[in-house]
Amino acid sequence: MCGIVGYTGNAPAAPILLEGLEHLEYRGYDSAGVAVVSPDKGLQIQKCKGRLQALREKLDSLPPLEGTVGLGHTRWATHGEPNDVNSHPHVSQNGRVAIVHNGIIENYAEIKDFLLHKGVRFRSDTDSEVVAQLLEYCFTDHSDPLDAVYAVLERLEGAYALGILCADRPDMLIAARKDAPLLIGYGGGESFIASDATAIIAHTRQVSYMEDGEVAVLTRAGVQVFDQYRRPVEKQRHTIEWDVSAAEKGGYAHFMFKEIMEQPEALRQTISPRLRDGRLVFDELELPEDRLRDFDRIFLVACGSSYHVGMLGKYNLERFLRLPVEVCLASEFRYSSPLVDERSLVIVISQSGETLDSMAALREAKARGGYILAIVNVVGSSIARESDGVLYTWAGPEIAVATTKAYSTQLVLLTMFGLWMAEKLGRADPEDYAAVTAELALLPAKLETVLADTGVYQYLASQYFNHDCIFYIGRNLDYALGLEGSLKLKEISYIHSESYAAGELKHGTISLIEPGTLVVALATYGQLFDKAASNIVEVKSRGADVVGLTTESFRPRMEQLATHTLTIPDTHPALQPNLGVAPLQLFAYYIALQRGCDIDKPKNLAKSVTVE
Ligand code: M6R
Repeated sequence: MCGIVGYTGNAPAAPILLEGLEHLEYRGYDSAGVAVVSPDKGLQIQKCKGRLQALREKLDSLPPLEGTVGLGHTRWATHGEPNDVNSHPHVSQNGRVAIVHNGIIENYAEIKDFLLHKGVRFRSDTDSEVVAQLLEYCFTDHSDPLDAVYAVLERLEGAYALGILCADRPDMLIAARKDAPLLIGYGGGESFIASDATAIIAHTRQVSYMEDGEVAVLTRAGVQVFDQYRRPVEKQRHTIEWDVSAAEKGGYAHFMFKEIMEQPEALRQTISPRLRDGRLVFDELELPEDRLRDFDRIFLVACGSSYHVGMLGKYNLERFLRLPVEVCLASEFRYSSPLVDERSLVIVISQSGETLDSMAALREAKARGGYILAIVNVVGSSIARESDGVLYTWAGPEIAVATTKAYSTQLVLLTMFGLWMAEKLGRADPEDYAAVTAELALLPAKLETVLADTGVYQYLASQYFNHDCIFYIGRNLDYALGLEGSLKLKEISYIHSESYAAGELKHGTISLIEPGTLVVALATYGQLFDKAASNIVEVKSRGADVVGLTTESFRPRMEQLATHTLTIPDTHPALQPNLGVAPLQLFAYYIALQRGCDIDKPKNLAKSVTVE
C-alpha cells in the first residue's frame, strides 16, 4: 500500500510526479503529496488529505513548484489518521530532509522516544516521520547523505520503500528498499523510482527491481545502486512489455468493468502458450520429473481472492493428483509452524507478487525446505523473484482494487498446472485430460458469451441494491466460488455478505434467513445439483428470495426452484468456476454502481497490501 514515485532529470518534476501518482492512486488514496527540490528554493512540499484531485487543486492555486528533482506519494494510512499533517512527504525538524515511505517502521516508537529525548519535535502521528527526523539527526555525525542514510537504515526495523530528498543536494534523490516494492526507471538524461511500473511507463520501459537492503542514488548523471554493505551492484535491466493503454480506462466508466470484460482475452493469454495440440506444456518450469515425484503434499498459500483461488484449487488438484492439498491463509501460515519440508510443493498465489503476508509465508516455507512455485501476475515482483519457479498469469496490469481478471487467470493456471502435474506423474485419467484440455481451448469464447449481455445483472442489482445482507451458498467448487462472489460484493458495495457451504446452513446460519433475505445459490457443479436444490428449497421455504446460478443444462430445474435464474454455458466441472465467477462479478459491480460507491477505490482498501 502507498504509492511512491520519484524523478530526477531536466524537466519540471511536479507535473511528472502528479501524472505518476495518478497511476499509483489505486495503492492508497487517503492523502497525496509531492516534494520538489531546487537550488534556489530548496525543499518545497505540498500535501493534503483526500484524493489526488485535492492535491491537484491545491497546487493549481499556488505558484508552480520549482525543481527537476522530486518525490510523490499517495497514502494508505496505517499509523496516524488520514489528515494533512500525517500525509507524506514528511520533513525533518529543520527542513533538511524530506522522505516518502511505504511500509511500516516497526520500531518507530523506540526511535521516536530516543529522538524526543534529544529534543526533536515531531509533527505527525506516523511511524514514517521518524525516518526523516533520524536522518537529520544522523547528519550531525555524517556530512555525506549516503553515510547518513546507511546509518539510519541500520536502525530501522520493519518494511520500507523510501524516497529521500536533501535540501542541500538539489541534484539527487536516494531510494532504499526492504520488504516493500520499489523499481528504478532509466530514461535519457532522467531517472525514476516507483512502486510499480504503471507510474513511469509513459517515460520509460527500462526498469530494474530493487532488492532488499539495496540503496539507489539517482542524479542527472545516472543511477548508482549499492547493496546493504554498500558494495556497488550492477542491476539487470528489464523491458516492460505491456502497452501503456493496458493501464488506462479506455472509455470504460471503471477499471473494474474494463477488467471484467478483458477476462476472455486474459484467459487466452494465460492458456494459449501452455496448450499445444491438446497437450499442456509448461516450458517455463524447470521441474524435473523426479522432483515432481518427490512431492507428497501441496500447500496453496495466499490472501484474499488469491486464497479463494486456492480454495477452488484444492478441489481440482486433489481430484487430479490424489495428493493431500492444504489451503492456507498466508497471514496464518507464517505463524503456524507449518509442516513444510523438502517433500512439500508450496504454491504461492498473488496478483501483485508483493503482498507482505504471502511474501513472509513464502520465506517461511523456503526456510523449511519446500519447493516454492509462484503464480503471479506482476512480472519481476518480489514473490516471483524469490520463488524457485514462476508461472505468470499474463493478465496485464490490473488496476481496480477488486480483482477480476487476475483471479480468473490464477484459477485457470492452477487448474492447468494440476492437470499437467497429474499427467507427468501418470495419475491423469486420459479421458478426463482430453476433456479438460478440449474445454480449455473453448473457455475464452464461452466466457465471452457470459459477458455479452449484462442486462440481467443490472436488473437484479436494481431489485436488490438496498438489501443490507446477502448470503451466498454452494457446495464443493460452488462453495469456494461463493466465497469470491461474496468478497466482491462486500468490498465494493459495502453490503454485509456471508458465504456458506450450502450443507452447513442448517447447522446454524439458517436462523438468519427471513422473508425477503436474498440468497445467491450457486449450483453449477452438476454432480451435486440435487443436494444444492434441497438447500435452495430450505431457504425458500423460510421466505428467502433466491438468485440461482447454474449451467445451461440445469436451467429448467433451477427455474422451478429459484426466484431468478442465471445460467452459464456448460464446460468441464473443473473449469466451471471460471465461467461462474463472471455473473458474480457483474452482480457485485452493478449493485455497487446503484449504491453510488467508488468502485475502483473502495473505502479502507488498497490494491497491493504490503503491510502485515
Ligand atoms: O496481490 P495479491 O493477489 O497477493 O492480493 C491478495 C489480496 O489482497 C487480494 O486478492 C484482495 O483480496 C482483493 N482486493 C480482492 O478483490
